[in-house]
Amino acid sequence: MSDQSLREFWTQVIDPEGIGLPEAIARELGAYTGESTTVVLDKMTGGTDAFKALWHEREVQSSDQAAVKEFYRNQFVEAYELANWHCGRSFGELPLSYARAALFAKREGLTRALDFGSGIGSGSLALSMAGCEVHSADIANELLAFVVFRMKRRGFVPRPIDLGIGGVQPPRHYFDVITCFDVLEHVPDQLEMLRQLESYLKPGGYLFANLYDDSTHPDRPMHISSAGDWLPMVRQTGMIPVWKEVEEQKIHVLRRVRGGRLKNLAASVVDRLQATR
Ligand SMILES: C[S@@+](CC[C@H](N)C(=O)[O-])C[C@H]1O[C@@H](n2cnc3c(N)ncnc32)[C@H](O)[C@@H]1O
Repeated sequence: MSDQSLREFWTQVIDPEGIGLPEAIARELGAYTGESTTVVLDKMTGGTDAFKALWHEREVQSSDQAAVKEFYRNQFVEAYELANWHCGRSFGELPLSYARAALFAKREGLTRALDFGSGIGSGSLALSMAGCEVHSADIANELLAFVVFRMKRRGFVPRPIDLGIGGVQPPRHYFDVITCFDVLEHVPDQLEMLRQLESYLKPGGYLFANLYDDSTHPDRPMHISSAGDWLPMVRQTGMIPVWKEVEEQKIHVLRRVRGGRLKNLAASVVDRLQATR
């Protein structure tokens, strides 16, 4: 998959009418909130600062899991930050992780997809456009409502999973592909989360996730954990690393395979031997 084809696909996802990516996503947000495109574009520009300010204003303690969950549940500010990022304004380039996963799913004929930590649902749209049956899971119920709005507006069936409601979980052993982009650094225990995600995959299913060795960032106090040395962590699951792009967005692709735990155990010995050479 060339970067050009990924960019073209993502542009179709965000801006199907070709009016310009920032305008397209701002209009969609405005259609939901009732705000003008100009107001939305302004809020998008200030999204990172506003989200950070909200975290400090609410005095969220990252060690308090309930408080962290509560923070995500009762806010919509993050929508503007994510919109700004998805249209390429945050870093001067388009985020292409979802396009990569969606086009991979299309090429491999993978159909059941879970967009875990779906945010504003741009990834759910991408996977839907690639022909998948998409389930969108998040703890942020206000963002999830916007995902439902966007999916319906584009003619796709929304399948929201509100993880903030006690006991609600995605179905186990069901998915061919799971995306978990820029989510793991928001949860306290990344290994536990990886194991949960593994349990939602069918044998042979793929997990696309970012594993950042160090997620700390002055503008993102809500990044409360880091993957550290990612390989020993992955070796404690039944998912085998099959592909990674560590230079830019640190995308890892892991595959749940039969006997994966044993294979990882054996591989971890080899990893350690190689590390001592
Ligand atoms: C940086 S956003 C990424 C959203 C989306 N994946 C994307 O790349 O645009 C992080 C998302 O993770 C969600 N999140 C945070 N903690 C979570 C948890 N414990 N379980 C599921 N989602 C969570 C947030 O609500 C937010 O939507």
